[in-house]
Amino acid sequence: MALERTLSIIKPDAVAKNVIGQIYARFEAAGLKIVAAKMKQLSRAEAEGFYAVHSARPFFKALVEFMISGPVMIQALEGENAVLKHRDLMGATNPKEAAAGTIRADFADSIDANAVHGSDAVDTAKNEIAYFFSAIEVNSRA
Ligand code: PPS
Repeated sequence: MALERTLSIIKPDAVAKNVIGQIYARFEAAGLKIVAAKMKQLSRAEAEGFYAVHSARPFFKALVEFMISGPVMIQALEGENAVLKHRDLMGATNPKEAAAGTIRADFADSIDANAVHGSDAVDTAKNEIAYFFSAIEVNSRA
């Protein structure tokens, strides 16, 4: 298995529920190391830029509004098979379909407010980490 990095965002709903620590504990228990982290109130332009690939989707406006509705916690995670491992921890996009014990099953309320984001591939992760962190802000712990 390869050592990978992935971008994780704890979304405004989960930050408001005060479960950042509980979510971090799941990352650590799964062997994912936090190599960069920041709490940030995204601007509209920052949220639109991050989700630009979805700009033609019907939910784009709602997604952007939600992502700027409060601060988010953004982190880069590092570990073996980190992209897939993190997505397994998150569960399905729609919390109603998320497997029991996943972050979305336990903390998300709806497909609009689904607690967490995770990169979907190693290449995407590289771009998403660079969107929020400069190279010197990412501290490899391998
Ligand atoms: S896709 O086609 O696989 O890229 O789509 P998906 O991963 O399911 O969703 C992309 C992001 O859009 C969010 N999403 C929604 N937001 C609001 N309303 C609806 N109906 C909706 N459907 C999908 C979804 O949570 C994804 O956001 P991230 O932050 O990447 O998880």
